[in-house]
Amino acid sequence: MEPVNQTSQPEAVSMPRIGDKAPSFKAVTTQGEINFPDQYKGSWVILFSHPADFTPVCTSEFMTFASREKLFSDANCKLVGLSVDGLYSHIAWLRTIKEKIEYKGMKNVEVKFPLIEDITMEVAKKYGMIQPGESNTKAVRAVFFIDPKGIIRAIIYYPLSMGRNFDELYRVIIGLQTADAFPVALPADWQPGDDIIVPTAGSCGVAKQRMENKKEMKCYDWFFCTKKLGKQEIEKKIKKHK
Ligand code: BEZ
Repeated sequence: MEPVNQTSQPEAVSMPRIGDKAPSFKAVTTQGEINFPDQYKGSWVILFSHPADFTPVCTSEFMTFASREKLFSDANCKLVGLSVDGLYSHIAWLRTIKEKIEYKGMKNVEVKFPLIEDITMEVAKKYGMIQPGESNTKAVRAVFFIDPKGIIRAIIYYPLSMGRNFDELYRVIIGLQTADAFPVALPADWQPGDDIIVPTAGSCGVAKQRMENKKEMKCYDWFFCTKKLGKQEIEKKIKKHK
């Protein structure tokens, strides 16, 4: 029998999935040591990786994220960055951003959230951020949305060449919080204030609720009904952190 050619097999990597507990680690960051995710219990966290310090797409992303940090923090969401660069590179890059870069009206931008140094790639590998088909030496642009109990609730990956959409990252956080606070699902391109999807009647409770809500609902078919959920109603329930 022919021996199996193992050299062409991709290396088995761990890829955390939605619903998994966020893998834990201790790391050095630009804001001191962190114990992840334990020290973030009670907060939502976005853990995200970027390919390399001193690169243009990553610079545009950090300036955008740092400029919106207050928006995320008002939604009880903390930000934690990571790349496989060292601490002194991180510090020098963030200082350059603050002191020298003016981009799309953003200037003097101070990155106050922690940026993890991960020269050994230990954390990046744990989170499946090294994707050899894209790069063996740099993390892809991964985004992990982790809830206050330390559970991964959504994951988005982007390639090296494309900067993330920060409106979308914020929409995902607010969407996850909304779907936790109300018994609803959210349709394509949903934004707070848009109609939400009423869960399909699978239990007596949901069926009863659907009968009671019938007048408020718009049904496209028996399995597809929407109803209004006002922006203020959402804000009242989920934005307790201003
Ligand atoms: C960038 O951030 O500009 C970048 C980083 C790695 C590869 C390509 C682009």
